[in-house]
Amino acid sequence: MKALSGVKILDFTHVQSGPTCTQLLGWLGADVIKVERPGVGDATRKQLVDVEGADSLYFTMLNHNKRSLTLNTKNDTGKQVLERLIKECDVMVENFAPGALDRMGFSWQRIQELNPRMIMASVKGFGPGPYENCKVYENVAQCAGGGASTTGFLDGPPLVTGAQIGDSGTGLNLAIGIIAALYQRTQTGRGQKVLAPMQDGVLNLCRVKLRDQQRLARGPLKEYSQYSEGIPFGEATPRAGNDSGGGQPGRILKCKGWETDPNSYTYFITQAAVWQNICDVIGKPEWKEDPDYATPPARLPRLNEIFGTIEQWTMTKTKYEVMEICNPLDIPVGPILSMKELAEEPSLRDSGTVVEVDHPERGKYLTVGCPIKMSDSAVEVTRSPLLGEHTVEILKYVLRYSDSEILAIKESGAV
Ligand code: COA
Repeated sequence: MKALSGVKILDFTHVQSGPTCTQLLGWLGADVIKVERPGVGDATRKQLVDVEGADSLYFTMLNHNKRSLTLNTKNDTGKQVLERLIKECDVMVENFAPGALDRMGFSWQRIQELNPRMIMASVKGFGPGPYENCKVYENVAQCAGGGASTTGFLDGPPLVTGAQIGDSGTGLNLAIGIIAALYQRTQTGRGQKVLAPMQDGVLNLCRVKLRDQQRLARGPLKEYSQYSEGIPFGEATPRAGNDSGGGQPGRILKCKGWETDPNSYTYFITQAAVWQNICDVIGKPEWKEDPDYATPPARLPRLNEIFGTIEQWTMTKTKYEVMEICNPLDIPVGPILSMKELAEEPSLRDSGTVVEVDHPERGKYLTVGCPIKMSDSAVEVTRSPLLGEHTVEILKYVLRYSDSEILAIKESGAV
């Protein structure tokens, strides 16, 4: 028994945003039936291929805990099978380009006619408005949602981040909407439409920058490095490098070995409550009482000097030594961990956050596990399905077609 046991998902998703959502629902126990075009499948199966002939890591890492059904939904018999799937499932998830489902003949109205309890969940690039018909990928969403304009350094171009906040971030929003709609359905008996636009998801994650946009109208943003550097602010929230987005100033500082190791850095936060401890650690006890350094407002115009001094200390330690010294003193610091270090970290393997999976075509590989831990719904990560691996099984046991009907469906070219 898992949290979503008994929930059937018609997974019409592809690439990253939609598959993130349905994979999460699968981890939580839903039966996820991924519908893919016969002979082609999700485009990511064959993108960024690293093992010839095998599904790519791009695909496998987004499609665990699913079954694959091939179905040509533009073929008449295929449409009939899809209708039966819609009647049978609780949730339909899709992230096609705007209008694709309507063109296929499955408008929201039609879906409701087929199954009034259906929850129909979509990721789109934009919500209603001037860009609603646009196709969108991750970095477009990061740019359109305010992420890129506020990421990077003041003197450089806008930057996108490696965290897939547009795709995977929006997929998580969609999953929350679906679970809420399933709960509401227990009261109303009705399904509903759930929409998670990528621009909205990115902007939501950038809320501290919208906060700063409004603070800017009332004066300079004193916790930004550019304030202590005497650089005037413009009209929009600027890029703030590695400045902390909160009220406690922080920076990324070099650690021992930074000259050769690109990840030998630490994040260091000068939290006001532990300022005295910071002064002792970095060998500046006189700053504890000095009115130029003793209070947070006094420190704001001197952040570059203060972090420069702290860095002189961090450069004498490894990033792990900085953590060992600072943590017992409650000074918030964080080592910059590389993907290599994260992949090898035993505690992340123990917690199921990084999981090794065996795949018939590619052998063993690492993937991320479920980032949500529930005491009564254990997650077991199962490998991604091969294209069409479960077609017959689903036609027979989920849709209850007879053997002769399955033969006819096959002969029609629908699967
Ligand atoms: N059988 C038959 N046809 C199928 C099918 C199936 N099983 N599955 C998909 N198709 C068809 C669709 O109906 C569509 O046909 P149409 O253009 O004739 O209407 C076609 O395949 C392609 O779908 P589309 O979504 O346009 O794919 P794309 O590769 O051109 O675009 C995206 C990809 C991601 C840009 C686009 O889907 C999109 O903008 N999605 C919404 C935003 C999003 O999720 N972006 C993030 C992706 S990580």
